[in-house]
Order: sequence, then structure tokens, then C-alpha cells
Amino acid sequence: MKKPCTVIIIALLLIIGAMGWFFVIRGSGGPKGEDGRTVVLLTSSDRAFFLAEMRGWLESVQGIAQALAENDMKEAAEIARKAGVVELDQIPGSLLRSIPLEMKQLGFGTHDAFAALAKSIEEGADAKRALKMLSELMLNCTGCHAGYRVDPKTH
Ligand code: HEC
Repeated sequence: MKKPCTVIIIALLLIIGAMGWFFVIRGSGGPKGEDGRTVVLLTSSDRAFFLAEMRGWLESVQGIAQALAENDMKEAAEIARKAGVVELDQIPGSLLRSIPLEMKQLGFGTHDAFAALAKSIEEGADAKRALKMLSELMLNCTGCHAGYRVDPKTH
């Protein structure tokens, strides 16, 4: 086999490998937007579901902060426990497929962190300790918001 031919074959194999990595392993998730965040394209109903979930999380964080300020540990644990539950069968499959792996991990990790917060409060963590856990949990919110955004799929 002549040398240029081998070079072309190797180059093609590298391209195929890179495409496999991009589309299969790294998952979906679009290009970077003008604000530097990864753009995730969602159908309008998936996007509505996703954003409603987000507003629910903000309500949970607000409720927990208020309960902790009032030293109402029972209420704080109750809200955190509810936010910690993942109802997988309620999440549209198309939404799960559209979200890149790392973003999914951050999302499920946030549910886990709410569940861990509820458990700690039930096991006797005081308001100050719980507040520290809440602020650490919120690094998931800020981290994901800094890295991703969801745009409507137009076709
Ligand atoms: C896995 C990633 C991720 C995590 C974790 C996350 N968010 Fe979001 N959130 C997003 C994305 C993406 C958007 C849409 C932002 C955009 O498109 O500009 C969003 C939007 C929102 C919105 C706006 C909702 C609307 O109706 O427009 C709120 C409120 C919100 N998030 C609250 C939270 C809170 C509170 C937390 C933590 C408890 C959190 N989010 C954790 C990814 C995440």
C-alpha cells in the first residue's frame, strides 16, 4: 500500500473515532452560545417541563431557607425530602435523551443533595449546619446555570 493512502486511512479513522466520541459518548448538547454556555435544544413541551421543575427547586430552596430562619426543622426536612424524590417515570424520555450526561449527573446529584439534607436534619443537624448544606447544594444550581442553557428546538 502506498504511503499517502495509509495516511488518508488513518486520518479517516481518527475522524470516525472523534465523531463517535462527540455524538455517542459525550451525548447530545449543542454548540456554545454567544454567552459561552452549552446550548441544549429541547422541544417546547420538554423545555416547559424542565423549567417548571426548576421553578419548583427555587420554591424548595426558598421554603427551606425560611424554615431554617424560623428554626422549624421539621418543615425544612419535609420540603427537602420532597425535593429529593426523583419520579423517573414522570420525566419525558425525549428530555432525558436531549440532556448531556454531565448535565444529567448534576441534575440527579441535586435531587440526591436535597435527600441528604433531609436525612441530616432528621438526624439532628441544626439550622446552621443545614444552611451550610443548602448553600453547598446550591453550587449545583449555580454551576449548571453557568455551563448550560436550554433553547427551544425550532424544527
Ligand atoms: C442540571 C443543570 C441545572 C441544575 C442542577 C439547576 N438548574 Fe436551574 N436551570 C438550568 C437551565 C439550563 C436553565 C435555563 C437557563 C437558560 O436557558 O437560560 C435553568 C433555569 C432555572 C430557572 C428559571 C426557570 C424559568 O421558568 O425560566 C430557575 C428559577 C432555576 N433554574 C432554579 C434552579 C435552582 C434553585 C436550582 C438548584 C436547586 C437549579 N435551578 C439547578 C439548569 C439547571
